[in-house]
Amino acid sequence: MSLPLPVIYLDNNATTQTDPAVVEAMLPYLTVRYGNPSSPYALGKESATAIQTAREQVAALLRCEAAEIIFTSSGTESTNAAIMSAIAADPDRQHIVTTRVEHSATLKTCEMLAKRGYEITWLGVDSKGQVNPRDVEKALRSDTALLSVMWANNETGTIFPISELVEIAHRKGVYFHTDAVQAIGKIPITLNTLGIQFLSLSGHKLHCPKGVGALYINKKTRFTPFLIGGSQENNKRGGTENVASIVALGKACELARERAAMENEKILHFRNTFEAALLNSISDVKINGDVDHRLPNTTNLTFNGVDSEALLMLLDERQIYCSAGSACTSGSHAPSHVLKAMGISDTQARSSLRFSFSHFNTETELQQAAEQITLLVKKIRNLAV
Ligand SMILES: Cc1ncc(COP(=O)(O)O)c(C=O)c1O
Repeated sequence: MSLPLPVIYLDNNATTQTDPAVVEAMLPYLTVRYGNPSSPYALGKESATAIQTAREQVAALLRCEAAEIIFTSSGTESTNAAIMSAIAADPDRQHIVTTRVEHSATLKTCEMLAKRGYEITWLGVDSKGQVNPRDVEKALRSDTALLSVMWANNETGTIFPISELVEIAHRKGVYFHTDAVQAIGKIPITLNTLGIQFLSLSGHKLHCPKGVGALYINKKTRFTPFLIGGSQENNKRGGTENVASIVALGKACELARERAAMENEKILHFRNTFEAALLNSISDVKINGDVDHRLPNTTNLTFNGVDSEALLMLLDERQIYCSAGSACTSGSHAPSHVLKAMGISDTQARSSLRFSFSHFNTETELQQAAEQITLLVKKIRNLAV
């Protein structure tokens, strides 16, 4: 019997391996420390204190005040809550500006609002996936309720010029939300001087378990709760808190803050070495995204003449996991909306793969993955001739 192949996980923008230190921190809140944080006795207070510590840990990573953080179930909930609160702030503002390359949490929420009569301006991007601040300037109006632009794109890693966009939004008196799910822990973020209204983040991209997120709400911003019920989260999000996961998110943020500088250097080195290996050994490969403004852990590559689904399946058999960066529904593999918005043809978009790394990767496994990808790309191309 052959030994099982070790997993080579190169899909860290989809989700991340849970950090053992994070699991250790949350475990007591799944076992002995089960008190309801709203209960007045010691067991409950213990949970309430743990939530407050986690709030401070998240705030320390984002450089904002702890009172500006609420915990949610996900990045998706945070984004929904931000958008719905922004439109509730002034019913006369019925216009939203966002980009064509957002995550579905933003895209679908805006599409739903369009059906309810809101006007949405969908900003296009250039061939690097970058938004043009001049387009933003032109799009914002006196009835714009919100400008929502992600901090970094999940498929290409392109980082948007957030400070510049915030400055425009300020000048035009428009609320700003950013989906920073992919940016948190990978690049430095300082909210106390940025002056945005909302920021969404998600635990499972940060070596924390799935099903927990956070929303930053600027202390000067009026907030209308998305989930109505109990008075949890300072009346901003009803529902008994997911204490263990919140503790986990706090710990993950603390680790990210302590390790970020060192680990992101290492991850950048991994990414660049891996990219160079593929570019050197395979002909007709192209990097998608803004190579000068890119998350250190992400590379999105087009292998011309290669069906990315076929490559993905062959890699899957070898337990090398990455992503086609496209929605695959019942066998038909739709080209990525992000790559399409960048002007990449459907065929090229269907020949693209995203690789995203974390500090759990090793140099050896990246070498092995690059070798396998090189062999498989050549194999698929040879079959096609
Ligand atoms: C950019 C971006 N926004 C939002 C989300 C959604 O986060 P969650 O899975 O916590 O709902 C994701 C997850 O893939 C993402 O990449």
